[in-house]
Amino acid sequence: MNYQRMPIEVESPEELGYSTIRYNLAESSVRDIHFKDLNIDLGDLMLSYGEHSGSLVLREEIVKDEPLDADHVLVCPGAATALFIISTALLQKEDHVIVMRPNYATNIETPRAIGCSISFVELTFENNFQFSIDEVREKLRSNTRLISVTSPHNPTGVVFNHRLMLDLITLAEERNIQLLVDETYRNLNFQSALQSYYAAHSPNVLSVCSLSKAFGVPGIRTGWILTRNKKLMHRFLAAKEQIIICNSIVDEAIARHVLAERDVFLQRAHTSIAANFRIVKDHIAGSSLEWIEPDAGVVCFPRIKKEVLLDLNKFYRILYDKYKTVAGPGHWFEQPDCHMRIGFGYPSAEELKSGLDNIEAAIREAAI
Ligand SMILES: Cc1ncc(COP(=O)(O)O)c(C=O)c1O
Repeated sequence: MNYQRMPIEVESPEELGYSTIRYNLAESSVRDIHFKDLNIDLGDLMLSYGEHSGSLVLREEIVKDEPLDADHVLVCPGAATALFIISTALLQKEDHVIVMRPNYATNIETPRAIGCSISFVELTFENNFQFSIDEVREKLRSNTRLISVTSPHNPTGVVFNHRLMLDLITLAEERNIQLLVDETYRNLNFQSALQSYYAAHSPNVLSVCSLSKAFGVPGIRTGWILTRNKKLMHRFLAAKEQIIICNSIVDEAIARHVLAERDVFLQRAHTSIAANFRIVKDHIAGSSLEWIEPDAGVVCFPRIKKEVLLDLNKFYRILYDKYKTVAGPGHWFEQPDCHMRIGFGYPSAEELKSGLDNIEAAIREAAI
């Protein structure tokens, strides 16, 4: 494995230092919460190893109301580890992978670190960041092992058309390859009903999700892989056992509590995201930015309009140094820096308004 640090991690707010940032528009989650606000007493918790797949009660909670059962769940330390397990368990350097780009950086970087050949399906502003099934079909090779998509999408917040996703599943079944659907943002469906995980549709689909984005608890590092494919599940468990054996028993106990209260958490999250979404929408209408409106999630990926001429390096420098504001520059996603990911779930309404005004001010001050 040829590991390289990714810009999105090197330049992340937690690596820059939260104390250096006043208006944090670079996060892709709702605001983090304090442990004390959960009101849980873990005093009786035995600090033993846990069940290797994740505790049965937690796995049952994860698939509650889903057409899947606990055997279809592998609990992992965050969606990040789930994605790592999938890539390393499925792929060798001789394999070919089709990945939608832009994407969450790990979904590109881990196959790259393994040495796989990668074909990108480029999602464009002009095509509303939707993909074309014909393009995916054209890119298939005899050694294609995996097609990798993220929906709701990071960094655009677009939800892929359901019909298109079903076509992709059919394609994966016909060619007997795996389709990875990174569904880490699925619970942030603040303007539509929640759909079943795609893994429920076919044994050729792997779904990944976690508690990091919608519940304010990324620090407990709890995510999961869902698959109906028993053989693959066995292999993923073998990978997990070699990496970590089992999850932290403390994290699992907190995760169970959070999921048992999911309705309360999600109602609160959706109310605040919907209000912040309105703020971004109103702002963009009169700004130097243009966007494809996100369908779900807490991020969008606007770009500075072409007619606005500016020095982009200077813009990001002014934004951070002078205005103590951060957004995610396009290069985090292998895109031009005239694009920026704006996270609207993390800041308060006031912080968001000021952060957006600061972006506008920095654009003016970086004009050429
Ligand atoms: C699409 C996507 N998948 C996975 C992850 C990793 O999340 P986790 O904190 O659950 O490891 C992220 C985090 O930003 C993400 O955006």
